[in-house]
Amino acid sequence: MATTWTPDSWRAKPILQVPAYPDANVLEEVEARLRTYPPLVFAGEARALKRQLAEVCEGRSFLLQGGDCAESFAEHGADNIRDFFRVFLQMAVVLTFGGSKPVVKVGRIAGQFAKPRSSDIEKQDGAELPSYRGDIINGIDFTPESRIPDPNRQEMAYRQSAATLNLLRAFAQGGFANLENVHQWMMGFVGESPQGERYEALADRISETMDFMRSVGITSENYAKLRETDFYTSHEALLLGYEEALTRVDSTSGDWYATSGHMIWIGDRTRQADHAHVEFCRGIKNPIGLKCGPSLQADDLINLIDILNPTNEPGRLTLIARFGHDKVEEHLPRLIRAVEREGKKVVWSCDPMHGNTITANRYKTRPFERILSEVESFFDVHRAEGTYPGGIHVEMTGKNVTECTGGARAVSEEELSDRYHTHCDPRLNADQALELAFLIAENLKQGRSNGNGDNRIAVNA
Ligand code: PEP
Ligand code: CO
Repeated sequence: MATTWTPDSWRAKPILQVPAYPDANVLEEVEARLRTYPPLVFAGEARALKRQLAEVCEGRSFLLQGGDCAESFAEHGADNIRDFFRVFLQMAVVLTFGGSKPVVKVGRIAGQFAKPRSSDIEKQDGAELPSYRGDIINGIDFTPESRIPDPNRQEMAYRQSAATLNLLRAFAQGGFANLENVHQWMMGFVGESPQGERYEALADRISETMDFMRSVGITSENYAKLRETDFYTSHEALLLGYEEALTRVDSTSGDWYATSGHMIWIGDRTRQADHAHVEFCRGIKNPIGLKCGPSLQADDLINLIDILNPTNEPGRLTLIARFGHDKVEEHLPRLIRAVEREGKKVVWSCDPMHGNTITANRYKTRPFERILSEVESFFDVHRAEGTYPGGIHVEMTGKNVTECTGGARAVSEEELSDRYHTHCDPRLNADQALELAFLIAENLKQGRSNGNGDNRIAVNA
């Protein structure tokens, strides 16, 4: 691409998923204020994440990316953040132990507010209103007033992201993530489940190992890696005016970085090579994700990789495959083969959520067995192709919600209404998230023990 990139060069390109703000002046005022606010993350942190993702690219680490489909203003509270972080750490520990590989931890959090929609209009009982587009744009209540896009929401989202990030940094660095607390990350309602028992057994082994290390002088007091963890943030870079306002030059390198989060991704609906979202992302130096759905052609993928990662830098680009449990075998091999043929360095991650959404009892839901099946197929295909299945991308919460059906403590379709709280797509509850982590760990362990890259998941493990 020969044209010059600037933080606003996306504005000259075609763009999809744009909110209809009623007053352009108010929008401009908000963006002008955002441009003066402090960055949420630093370029050096984004570079550190890129280095960790390069390790994933080489097959030496595993990426765990997860969080809400959409963060909400109403549910912003310390308990929610803590519960999410806790189950995320549990998953990470299960994966680290199972795979004997470092886990790169990236939350869908502290900025995951804007949602692409398949329709501009939502219908409810015969009435029609503009669709909800995430709290950074409009309100979820089904009223005409609430659905009007309000630019001031961007400042709310910025401030919420800052507060969330502040607590996450404290949790990650301030003692909560200390491996000596591995038992305390257990949550009440998971404690009584089969996953809880498995987790306790694993935590016992970690504690034993820690006791042994303490006896030879390695403790969390003198070894920071036992006491702290690196935790990064990510979101879909959908609302480009907001992203542009938080794009800053890094003084040490002179490069442009999105400072709204460490990693940002391009959604499956906005990945057209000549459109605005790809234009914006190509110019910033953060690690980038690209959602790859069934309609993505191999040639288009290679073209996108050339645009987004022209120097073939490992860790820069994560391809997030999201086909649907019954479509992985059809689509993933052709994309992997094109990437291999062209010698492109990418991280392959599996999003088993977005291709598996169905409606049951008038609720959007995802059957857990389809989620597991998509992950299983993802590993199978990589094994067959001789490539590395580097990560997982999930929508999850630390709460005991009933949004996805199934799991060891089966959520039935009738139970969906009990605790269905998501602002957009159905999330794994803490129990289901942990069950998924155990399945992946089992699989990583198998891949390790037979030494032939066999990454098949043992579904009945
Ligand atoms: C999402 O990750 O919430 C999302 C909308 O995904 P996709 O772009 O893959 O549909
Ligand atoms: Co979603």
